Amino acid sequence: MNLRLHIWRQPGPDVQGMFKTYDLDGVSEHMSFLEMLDVLNETLIGRGEEPVAFDHDCREGICGTCGMVINGRPHGPLQRTTTCQLHMRFFKDGDEIYIEPWRASAFPVVRDLVVDRSSFDRIIANGGFISVNTGNAQDGNAIPIPKPDADRAFDAAACIGCGACVAACPNSSAMLFVGAKAGHLGMLPQGQAERGSRALNMLLAADESGFGACTNHLECEAACPKGISAEFIAMLNRDYMKAAMFGRD
Ligand code: SF4
Ligand code: FES
Repeated sequence: MNLRLHIWRQPGPDVQGMFKTYDLDGVSEHMSFLEMLDVLNETLIGRGEEPVAFDHDCREGICGTCGMVINGRPHGPLQRTTTCQLHMRFFKDGDEIYIEPWRASAFPVVRDLVVDRSSFDRIIANGGFISVNTGNAQDGNAIPIPKPDADRAFDAAACIGCGACVAACPNSSAMLFVGAKAGHLGMLPQGQAERGSRALNMLLAADESGFGACTNHLECEAACPKGISAEFIAMLNRDYMKAAMFGRD
């Protein structure tokens, strides 16, 4: 198929960016979206032009690095699908595709489609862990955990830290990400000891990094490639309120 691509080009963080248009012919429907960009880059390099910078690592929907906005939607048109798992058969011959980086002040553009997501790392470093001594690796059955709790912890732990929730939110809120990270620990016995301070500290780091507040648009839930539920935002808010009113833990 033949495509017309409008891609955000920005040589550096402090330089004004703009869309540039590229016509790409002979795209196979079996290619992934990133493979299509690989083909474009080979063409650009062959012409002596700068290739388009974009992030990727696993290409299996696991690492969360491949985020970009495709036709106005984080990770593109398919629900619960990362950019690397999106295939060109979901587009048609003659399509025009707009490709741009995450738009959020807490995710500054590094180059082209690559943004700096170290603000997520700061949130995790500020509380997204268990620091109490939980002893050696447990036998699987040593601490019985009710099946519904284990399942919910697993659901939250599916967050890959991609940032699509922030890109989709009109407030650039990171509440779904923080809710998922606090939630998967908060559902387990080992995570109870620091549950209150975890909520306070992670949200403080989110505020300081420039993420906005949640006003219940739920765009985050719709854009999340891992189907993280906004219920984890409610759980985080309850933990935060409890800790703020009655003491940290
Ligand atoms: S909550 Fe979903 S959209 Fe947000 S960072 Fe995690 S996986 Fe990505
Ligand atoms: S490259 Fe790892 S999730 Fe897409």
